Amino acid sequence: MTVIGSRVTWLDTWMIEARNITKTFAARGGGILPGEVVTALRGVSISVPDSSALALIGESGCGKTTLGRILCGLEPYDGGDLVFDGVSMNGLSPKERNAQFRRIQIIHQDPYAALNPVRTVGKTLTDPLKLRAKQIGRSASWVDERVHELLGLVGLDPEEVLSKYPHNLSGGQRQRVVVARALTVDPDILVADEAVSMIDVSLRLGILKLLNDLRARLGIAIVFITHDVAAGRYAAQGGSMAVIYRGEIFEYGTIDDVIQFPVNPYTQSLLSAVPVLTGLEQPGPDRFTPKQAMDTDRTESGCLFHGRCPFATDTCRVEHPELLPMDGTKRLSRCHYSTTRRVVARPIQAGGGVTTP
Ligand SMILES: Nc1ncnc2c1ncn2[C@@H]1O[C@H](COP(=O)(O)OP(=O)(O)O)[C@@H](O)[C@H]1O
Ligand SMILES: [Mg+2]
Repeated sequence: MTVIGSRVTWLDTWMIEARNITKTFAARGGGILPGEVVTALRGVSISVPDSSALALIGESGCGKTTLGRILCGLEPYDGGDLVFDGVSMNGLSPKERNAQFRRIQIIHQDPYAALNPVRTVGKTLTDPLKLRAKQIGRSASWVDERVHELLGLVGLDPEEVLSKYPHNLSGGQRQRVVVARALTVDPDILVADEAVSMIDVSLRLGILKLLNDLRARLGIAIVFITHDVAAGRYAAQGGSMAVIYRGEIFEYGTIDDVIQFPVNPYTQSLLSAVPVLTGLEQPGPDRFTPKQAMDTDRTESGCLFHGRCPFATDTCRVEHPELLPMDGTKRLSRCHYSTTRRVVARPIQAGGGVTTP
């Protein structure tokens, strides 16, 4: 048995896996043709070990939120499986599944919408903690102590915020309350979906630091969903990065490797588009821009990126590439011609927390 902070885990290591998850939606407004569907996920697999972090990166509409909601049990999936500690969710009763999904809590992008405007911070935390106290056989005084403990953990002063309403708080403070509320059920994983994108730029770093801190202090794993490579890199330090495009993982590997030595043209185009790595790296000489915007690309044949990819050949137009390991490495890439391009230059300073080949 391992005790981490207030959590007790019976297994020394655990792992949450999504295996080959598929998901379609009926097109919003019925679509142009009757029965039209939107394919949000086309067989996505990820794994998130105990205390680790995964940054899920991709443009808007790629399926990131859908995957995050599926991981938390908020959205059903069409095919594939979720496996927690080796136990398949598909084989469980609804009651058993709900108990498992308690372990994964989601933090949405808009903390104001996530909080009840007529509830004080105190009430927001006390209500779920009373339920939790019943489940784990704790007293009323434990609830009070735990409210203070959780607020301290998320960097808020209980005396200052307990009686405040959401509108009395800054965006950063609100998001901290949302994180504290997620912690009331002792989760093993937090899924943060664009969790800093609606927060004032000056307060973002504080929230990213908080997520890192929770991982270090409580062993809570983080799935950080974002379109912002720099935020993803910061929040998932030392972890993995999965790059998703139109419902498929295009590249998967350790975060610094994927950013410094991307091998997939889609990852390379994302990194080319943003000044992501100020202070660590400079833009490299091989940067390029995709041939068209994502929302005009509807190709379903061959590689799903071929319509935008400047390197596409006839093969890419007809043959769908698999997500395969690169020779001799743990990196996975979905491209017929995976190869490193220097879209990011070597680190400016040696060290600096980045790896070199
Ligand atoms: N409830 C829904 N009904 C219909 N289409 C949806 C629904 N949710 C998401 N989609 C579609 O699924 C695709 C993936 O969406 P989403 O997971 O929100 O992407 P992301 O979070 O990467 O922006 C998009 O084309 C989106 O329009
Ligand atoms: Mg989203």
